[in-house]
Amino acid sequence: MKNTNYFSLKNVGFLFTFFAASLLIAISSCDSKPPKNSRVAQAAKGKVHFQKYCSQCHGADGTGIIVDTMGLQPANLTKIRASRKSDEFPILEIANKIDGRKMAKAHGSRDMPIWGEVFSEQEFMSEKEIKGKLGELIAYLMSIQV
Ligand code: HEC
Repeated sequence: MKNTNYFSLKNVGFLFTFFAASLLIAISSCDSKPPKNSRVAQAAKGKVHFQKYCSQCHGADGTGIIVDTMGLQPANLTKIRASRKSDEFPILEIANKIDGRKMAKAHGSRDMPIWGEVFSEQEFMSEKEIKGKLGELIAYLMSIQV
């Protein structure tokens, strides 16, 4: 009697291990496409916007290239967090900097286009669409921080 009990317990243990292992395999072999609206999916969209609007000044990888004709040095966007010496990415500050409509008044001229104006006046986006686009751009910027 004792022996059989011991034996079946062992079996249960084995079955459990087997089950856990196959579950792990099933999970890891899952299609790894990120869920819609996850930060990864947002960053992927942001990357497309970045190549379209931003890379000519900030470089395809965001590290910043010199715009010879104007002699400007666009910021290295992979060091936003590091340059702030903080673990937190300054989402609001960066959103305002990219949008630029609030800052333009306070700081006078700036070297970067006022994207909030470009998106609303040239691309006819609603405020909601602009927010979405900024969110995607910021998700991308967060993904390239070193
Ligand atoms: C015409 C060139 C140009 C383009 C295009 C451009 N930028 Fe910039 N950007 C600059 C320059 C120059 C600076 C630094 C000086 C300043 O703030 O005006 C800057 C600064 C920034 C900063 C501030 C970084 C910091 O550490 O404070 C962010 C964020 C930024 N750009 C994001 C973007 C994004 C996102 C786009 C595309 C939607 C973009 N830029 C397109 C020239 C450009």
